[in-house]
Amino acid sequence: MRVTIPAGLDRKEAEIYAKLDPARFPHHIAIIMDGNGRWAKRRHLPRIAGHRAGVDAVRSTMETAARLNIPALTLYAFSEENWKKRPRGEVGFLMALLQRYLKKEVPLLNQNNIRLQYIGREHELPPEVHERMRWAREATAGNTGMVLTLALNYSARTELVDAVNCFLAETPPDGALPRITEEGLARHLYTRNLPDLDLVIRTSGEMRLSNFLLWQVAYSEIYVTSTLWPEFRGTHLLEAISEFQKRERRYGGLIEHPPADLVATKNPVQPIAAMVAQSSGASAK
Ligand code: FPP
Repeated sequence: MRVTIPAGLDRKEAEIYAKLDPARFPHHIAIIMDGNGRWAKRRHLPRIAGHRAGVDAVRSTMETAARLNIPALTLYAFSEENWKKRPRGEVGFLMALLQRYLKKEVPLLNQNNIRLQYIGREHELPPEVHERMRWAREATAGNTGMVLTLALNYSARTELVDAVNCFLAETPPDGALPRITEEGLARHLYTRNLPDLDLVIRTSGEMRLSNFLLWQVAYSEIYVTSTLWPEFRGTHLLEAISEFQKRERRYGGLIEHPPADLVATKNPVQPIAAMVAQSSGASAK
């Protein structure tokens, strides 16, 4: 059977793509981008050089994911813990890098029909960073292709706390506390407008989830690569998808497809544009 290779893939990407099953691509991929510091250290460079090089990896990964028609890509760019525990100089550099990145990459996001959004406690970020984030989100708001979600000042535990508080704030007319349900809680998560998380990739070999999407990861496949983030490219993304397609997903049962009762609590995959329209602003306000 002849395979139609998506436009824009390079030769190596096309070679991997040709061996994949286009009907079984993940709908939502999340990446823990790790190893910037080690990449820099190996080159006797300051840690910030690793973060700067990480931007090229973000660009390549996001473009390839968009070319593959992946509906949603989520990148863990900055955790709540990074904010509190890294030296001030490094945090300041990451904030400046993010502002530069947003300004420079918006045209490329638009070219690739990518819509940008954020998860995390956005309002705790410096006002000038917050303002640039708002600008970039609005500048890409009309795009209808892949949703690129940047996790910034993000913590999965905080997300759950925010979701429960949001839920409790919905006091019914009789004044009784609302009953918390799985489906109800999922509706209050930062990721409420995204398809279920199918695949989590972590670079640089660490076997940890680091407080990332802990609710959403319930039935995801996890792929860890020793590649350091600054060296990660579209080909690595395709290798991860290839591994994903070899896994048998059983959702606790004996079959490949999720059982109906699970589907009821999970976000439908399509149409993503409609889901996006339903829910404006995914992050904590
Ligand atoms: C982890 O590497 C990486 C980060 C804390 C920051 C991620 C930032 C980027 C990839 C750069 C740009 C991204 C955007 C969206 C502008 P680490 O420093 O913990 O590496 P180490 O574990 O080797 O020390």
